[in-house]
Amino acid sequence: MLDKIKETANFIHSKITDIPKTAIILGTGLGELVNHIDITDSIDYKDIPNFPVSTVEGHCGKLIFGNLGNKRVMAMQGRFHFYEGYSMQQVTFPVRVMKALGITTLFVSNAAGGMNPDFKIGDIMIITDHINLFPEHPLRGKNYDELGPRFPDMSEPYSHRLINDALKVAEEKGINVKQGVYIGTQGPTFETPAEYRYFHRIGGDAVGMSTVPEVIVANHSGIEVFAISVITDMGGLEGVEPEKVSHEEVQKAAAAAQPKMTEIMKGLINEFKE
Ligand code: HPA
Repeated sequence: MLDKIKETANFIHSKITDIPKTAIILGTGLGELVNHIDITDSIDYKDIPNFPVSTVEGHCGKLIFGNLGNKRVMAMQGRFHFYEGYSMQQVTFPVRVMKALGITTLFVSNAAGGMNPDFKIGDIMIITDHINLFPEHPLRGKNYDELGPRFPDMSEPYSHRLINDALKVAEEKGINVKQGVYIGTQGPTFETPAEYRYFHRIGGDAVGMSTVPEVIVANHSGIEVFAISVITDMGGLEGVEPEKVSHEEVQKAAAAAQPKMTEIMKGLINEFKE
């Protein structure tokens, strides 16, 4: 694994002269932020050694380098999901490469189903914490001390200072944001009504099929994390007739809400201290 990380990082180094310290992973239907990046370089995942290739609809699979406001950034347009059949090591490989490249802060977005009755479709939720319900842990197996500790602390998986910065940005821009706990599950089924209720009762405000593996590996590597969910459906409110959820709907709702998400990410990335 160490050799592969090095090989991929060396390849990127050979293509890109000015490597950023800030990285962004964009979720389903949330690629619009890329349009605000002054792109200097772009590499297709398929051309990057050891990189898996993204398969799901709505993800185009490119590593983008450029300037967003006053920061130089690297953005993953499209991510790897466990449900696509990738191993946890493959899903989180890009984060390992980020660390090897010298990335210190990671910004993540995703689409998620809302379970908190105060939420509605189109809301933006700043992730304050998560519950990992994936069936496999990305750090299972041999630990490489060069990459991080065997038993990593997870007391602040999402950076408090970045959450506070984001709340300030949202307030300045007059954007209403929620905060909450994200539950990560493998999918690819959306939840049954009973599962949505269960996830809410155990402390989840939103549920999705991504983010948690990458955030765990970022924490293991000592990368600071900020993440946002866009609420694309309200699956299972207690006492409310369940509604059907589809990928198309999720993409549509994500597209409708993404200007707000983009504004916050853009503002935050511009403001935060690298
Ligand atoms: N459940 C799981 N993943 C999701 C959902 C959901 O309701 N919405 C968007 N991604």
